[in-house]
Amino acid sequence: MQRAGVLTGGGDSPGINAAIRAIVRFGYKQEVETIGFLEGWKGPIDDLTRPLKVDDVSGILHIGGTILGSSRTNPFKIEGGVERILNTLKHNAIDFLIGIGGDDTLGVIHRLSEHGVKAIGIPQTIDNDISMTDYSIGFASALGVVTDALDRLHTTAFSHHRVLILEVMGRDSGWLSLLGGIAGGADVIIIPEQEFSVEEVHKKILRRQARKKHFSIIIIAEGAKPAGWEGQVVSETKVDAFGHVRLGGVGQYLANQLSAQLKIPLRVTNLAYLQRGGSPTPFDRILATRFGAAAIEFALDGRFDVMTALHGTKIEPVSLEDALSTPRPVDPGLFYLLTLFE
Ligand code: F6P
Repeated sequence: MQRAGVLTGGGDSPGINAAIRAIVRFGYKQEVETIGFLEGWKGPIDDLTRPLKVDDVSGILHIGGTILGSSRTNPFKIEGGVERILNTLKHNAIDFLIGIGGDDTLGVIHRLSEHGVKAIGIPQTIDNDISMTDYSIGFASALGVVTDALDRLHTTAFSHHRVLILEVMGRDSGWLSLLGGIAGGADVIIIPEQEFSVEEVHKKILRRQARKKHFSIIIIAEGAKPAGWEGQVVSETKVDAFGHVRLGGVGQYLANQLSAQLKIPLRVTNLAYLQRGGSPTPFDRILATRFGAAAIEFALDGRFDVMTALHGTKIEPVSLEDALSTPRPVDPGLFYLLTLFE
């Protein structure tokens, strides 16, 4: 019998619970017992645990968020944090650790591997910005919410002849804004990978008006950079334990700039946490289930310091060193979609 520890770190997204369920249930079949650490890296630092038996993960497949709780705690920023984790793992007789999260959580797993911890990552982020996997858990579900929001915005935009701006998440990568914009039929799509010019957006709206289209829908990623700006539009300058500022407000910035030039009303909707919540889509439930089971398989094969990755239809291990050293912007091969329907 081996013992696995599992934790969930960073921003939550739909599908995490499906992965936890798969780890516990598939692990049980393979004689692996699982215990959960609570609230991200705070769990192993402060020895906050809960047992995860098969019955404990019953009925969670379709529920968003994480039953273990999450945080943005960084053990490398806490005095003695790593030693405390090592002690907790020893004290709970953990043979290996599975961390479900985005690049920050996966980065901690990689660094702990250098301290002798046998650990595996499962990529989870609605931003879909982790390299070397086609998709991360949560992206497909968030994409569904963004698409639904655009469908709903269309009715008011059309009926009231308005320009409506939808701000979505995406710190450095425009996967949600680009693919959401295509799926939801946005008229202007703005992503962090390319600076945007207010003048250009204005011209696009005027071109639509000339075609008797008296409304426009703009989708913009929170990380989008106005041309000539040094950085991004932030709602809070205080950085978190991983050095990130809180982004937000670029949609309103764009609205303010455009309202001086346009005669029709502009309104901004910020989708914020609505896009991280709710039930996972079938795609995310299946991806998370496969990632959870694969993490157990990799551990039993002695493959550590790796993450589970989707390559086409296959789940494969990828070195964390490789995955974390490469950024994951939107594939430039998809940039043509930005202007396809203008
Ligand atoms: O999960 C990643 C992300 O969705 C980013 O796009 C966003 O900037 C961030 O989380 C905000 O999350 P929080 O407010 O929970 O720190």
